[in-house]
Amino acid sequence: MRLFSLAASLAFASIGSCITTSNNSTAGIEALVRRRLPDHVNSFSFTLSHNALQTNSTLPANDEYTVSNAPNGKIHISGNSPIALATGLRWYLTNIVHVDIYWFIGSQLDLAPARLPRLNSTYHGASTVPWRYHFNTVTFSYTSAFWDWDDWQLQLDWMALRGINLPLAWVGYEKILSDVFTEAGFSNSEIATFLSGPAFQAWNRFGNIQGSWGGDLPPSWIDSQFALNKQIVARMVELGMTPVLPCFTGFVPRQIGEHYPNASFVNGSRWSGFETEYTNVTFLEPFDPLFTTLQKSFITKQTAAYGDVTDIYTLDQYNENNPYSGDLDYLRNVTSNTIQSLKAADPDAIWLLQGWLFYSSESFWTNDRVEAYLSGVDNSDMLILDLFSESQPQWQRTSSYFGKPWIWCELHDYGENMGLYGQVENVTINPVAALADSSTMVGMGLTMEGQEGNEIMYDILLDQAWSKQPLNTDKYFHDWVASRYHGARSLPNGLYTAWDTMRKTVYNNTNLNRAQAVTKSIFELAPNTTGLLNRTGHHPTTIQYEPAVLVTAWTAFYHASSQNPNLWANEAYTFDLTDITRQVLANAFYPLYTTFVSTSNNTSPTYSAQKASQTGQQLLHLLSSLDAILSASPHAHFHLSAWISSARQHASNNASLADFYEYDARNQITLWGPDGEISDYASKQWGGLVRGYYLPRWERFVQFTLNGTTGANGRNEALRRSLLEFEEGWQVQTSDGQGEGGRGPPGYGWGWPHQGGGGGNLQQTIARVVREWPSIFG
Ligand SMILES: *[C@@H]1O[C@H](CO)[C@@H](O)[C@H](O)[C@H]1NC(C)=O
Ligand SMILES: *[C@@H]1O[C@H](CO)[C@@H](O)[C@H](O)[C@H]1NC(C)=O
Ligand SMILES: *[C@@H]1O[C@H](CO)[C@@H](O)[C@H](O)[C@H]1NC(C)=O
Ligand SMILES: *[C@@H]1O[C@H](CO)[C@@H](O)[C@H](O)[C@H]1NC(C)=O
Ligand SMILES: *[C@@H]1O[C@H](CO)[C@@H](O)[C@H](O)[C@H]1NC(C)=O
Ligand SMILES: *[C@@H]1O[C@H](CO)[C@@H](O)[C@H](O)[C@H]1NC(C)=O
Ligand SMILES: *[C@@H]1O[C@H](CO)[C@@H](O)[C@H](O)[C@H]1NC(C)=O
Ligand SMILES: *[C@@H]1O[C@H](CO)[C@@H](O)[C@H](O)[C@H]1NC(C)=O
Ligand SMILES: *[C@@H]1O[C@H](CO)[C@@H](O)[C@H](O)[C@H]1NC(C)=O
Ligand SMILES: *[C@@H]1O[C@H](CO)[C@@H](O)[C@H](O)[C@H]1NC(C)=O
Ligand SMILES: *[C@@H]1O[C@H](CO)[C@@H](O)[C@H](O)[C@H]1NC(C)=O
Ligand SMILES: *[C@@H]1O[C@H](CO)[C@@H](O)[C@H](O)[C@H]1NC(C)=O
Repeated sequence: MRLFSLAASLAFASIGSCITTSNNSTAGIEALVRRRLPDHVNSFSFTLSHNALQTNSTLPANDEYTVSNAPNGKIHISGNSPIALATGLRWYLTNIVHVDIYWFIGSQLDLAPARLPRLNSTYHGASTVPWRYHFNTVTFSYTSAFWDWDDWQLQLDWMALRGINLPLAWVGYEKILSDVFTEAGFSNSEIATFLSGPAFQAWNRFGNIQGSWGGDLPPSWIDSQFALNKQIVARMVELGMTPVLPCFTGFVPRQIGEHYPNASFVNGSRWSGFETEYTNVTFLEPFDPLFTTLQKSFITKQTAAYGDVTDIYTLDQYNENNPYSGDLDYLRNVTSNTIQSLKAADPDAIWLLQGWLFYSSESFWTNDRVEAYLSGVDNSDMLILDLFSESQPQWQRTSSYFGKPWIWCELHDYGENMGLYGQVENVTINPVAALADSSTMVGMGLTMEGQEGNEIMYDILLDQAWSKQPLNTDKYFHDWVASRYHGARSLPNGLYTAWDTMRKTVYNNTNLNRAQAVTKSIFELAPNTTGLLNRTGHHPTTIQYEPAVLVTAWTAFYHASSQNPNLWANEAYTFDLTDITRQVLANAFYPLYTTFVSTSNNTSPTYSAQKASQTGQQLLHLLSSLDAILSASPHAHFHLSAWISSARQHASNNASLADFYEYDARNQITLWGPDGEISDYASKQWGGLVRGYYLPRWERFVQFTLNGTTGANGRNEALRRSLLEFEEGWQVQTSDGQGEGGRGPPGYGWGWPHQGGGGGNLQQTIARVVREWPSIFG
């Protein structure tokens, strides 16, 4: 049991106020069982013990649960919070029944047998931290921008079962904000030209960008997202979570001076090379009394909409956007006035801050500035997310944020990029060590920019929050495999050996100088003879393991289906086979690329035009093979068409609105900005995108290189123009999802396909690709 010093306990004096609002009822977990285990509504009993606060502190207690056999034949789960009950239920379902609920695959809980196994002994679980957090502000754009209620219901059940009790809830923010601005006298068009498009709202919320390219955000979007969030927040509360809601940040339409000539405002920096029309966002200074007026208006309206469900507010004013001044008094003034505005609206308010700024703008945020900035707020009134703890922790250099409570977060993925990747040591060993070293660490959580593959790396951190010792990764991977493919005794051994091989290699990067997050493949970048290989940092293009090792794992995994052909009907198997095959082919692109660059160099003495052309064709053929696999996969997660149709469906039957949403969706994953400001940041390895976007770019590259126009250092203005012309044209293509990687059956949601089985096409396509590429698959 972890003890807080008295000083630390006092520091948490008001955090407890928020937990009284979380649902003190078993109704939420019982409803989850009805949704996901309809045949087992009578198989479980739940009791909730008192929801204690920590001794001499109002920080919520660590969660605890007990799973036991009840005399009436039921499995009995007791716990001290609704989320403790959900976590206990998942412990039973994964460890004893071997079923779970997964991103992109959906719920497999209904595969539990009619007769549930009894326990051999009572099991007791306890969290090591009171808070388990989920979401990054940008996850709402990269992952869930176009989700509907079904997608959200699955997501929220996934979160509850994994013990998350502190989730962000950004959806629908624009409704309250617009109402506040309207009340403050701004016109509809001033508001409309401030807000950003549906796929870019996160950066508008951060004050990085303003306005929208390609069309304005329509009122119908704002209203329907608001309605959606009413459902989301109510479900969060029902499940026992404390939602973190937004508040007024200070970012306002640029016409503020016309409405309030005496207002104090400044302009934010130019973000990521955007034209000032879209950035340079106007920021109302928190010491201006208007700031508090707007804050009170915002919180009042929001509480009226969702109920008094939280006291924790997400608020970031300087995310990739430096303060107007680095003066210490100014920084203290900003935070002290900001928290006062929140307290004026909600006396128990707690400010949740994404700590990203202190890392991304480390040269501005010297320790004395961090200290001054944080000192404007009492320790008990703030909660800081150490956003990238596995690679770039900031809590040490800031002495645990100078005493503020903080949460250890795994970021792992940027831009929802797709590459098999993990730092399995950092997410097991480091948070346990941090908890011992910092008395104000109060949580663990996930802050991925996008939910992508690599789910095991996210699961393990959330499970680590319930273990005092670093988890044994050998056992963890083994047990994870047993429930992933739901069968403990019957699974072919190849599944276990494949994952164990990946555990020690793909998922065990220890060289953070070469990579710190999910890898990209070079084929997702604009083709060039230079500059693509060996990129490090957030979007590394390095491969951290011997590629042949992944082929070994692939072989074991693929051949498991010869031993047990039923695996072709197993959705987790077809999903993972798609993903691992994808990575094998992506890795194989590297040597083909290097060979092409050297053989096509016509100044080399051994140059052969025929050889050059041949290697160019191979390079392109590999991309076609990759696209064939992705497109044949039964999983929407690998299809461009799913992303596009999920965007279009929000426009109902309004075709021109649907075209705008499609443009927004296409633009985010490719040019990211009207003129390619952050091109390829959020690239994806999707069927339809590989064939329709990356392949044509590489075709142009091969053509230009073969006719000898690519100069030294990759400089070729004609090729650059040709690529840009193609990329811009691709943005404005429209479709109803057909012709781009195949359209899923009706009800084929973005995040969560609802159809079953269907690995047949994938099976044939993989067999064909394996025959075509003996050089890769052996
Ligand atoms: C939750 O409910 C239990 C049982 O009704 C009660 O003893 C406990 O005081 C409640 N806790 C809170 C924080 O409301
Ligand atoms: C909690 O506070 C009470 C009364 O203030 C005190 O007697 C007790 O020793 C404290 N317990 C701990 C663990 O600090
Ligand atoms: C309970 O113990 C028996 C006998 O050792 C074993 O066969 C069975 O798998 C165990 N069940 C569970 C759920 O652990
Ligand atoms: C708890 O959830 C149940 C079931 O949805 C609901 O009826 C009840 O009103 C909720 N209680 C609170 C305090 O929100
Ligand atoms: C930023 O916006 C302000 C107010 O709209 C304007 O005065 C200023 O010129 C803009 N800065 C740039 C670089 O365009
Ligand atoms: C913050 O700065 C403003 C403007 O300089 C000043 O009027 C105000 O008194 C300051 N407030 C605090 C708390 O320092
Ligand atoms: C991550 O783990 C490696 C060893 O596996 C270690 O060298 C490194 O310092 C860790 N990184 C951080 C940020 O703690
Ligand atoms: C990860 O790599 C490090 C450094 O090579 C090694 O010490 C450690 O045992 C490896 N961990 C796993 C899980 O393979
Ligand atoms: C990339 O790194 C590898 C391994 O360190 C090295 O062999 C290769 O020369 C590097 N390539 C480039 C283009 O820097
Ligand atoms: C082609 O080879 C020459 C030397 O033969 C070298 O200087 C040049 O950089 C190479 N060009 C490319 C694009 O690799
Ligand atoms: C090289 O090929 C490209 C694409 O076919 C073409 O546009 C360009 O004009 C060609 N350049 C030369 C010098 O032949
Ligand atoms: C390739 O990269 C170099 C260096 O960044 C750049 O100057 C050149 O324009 C790029 N080539 C193309 C075709 O974009």
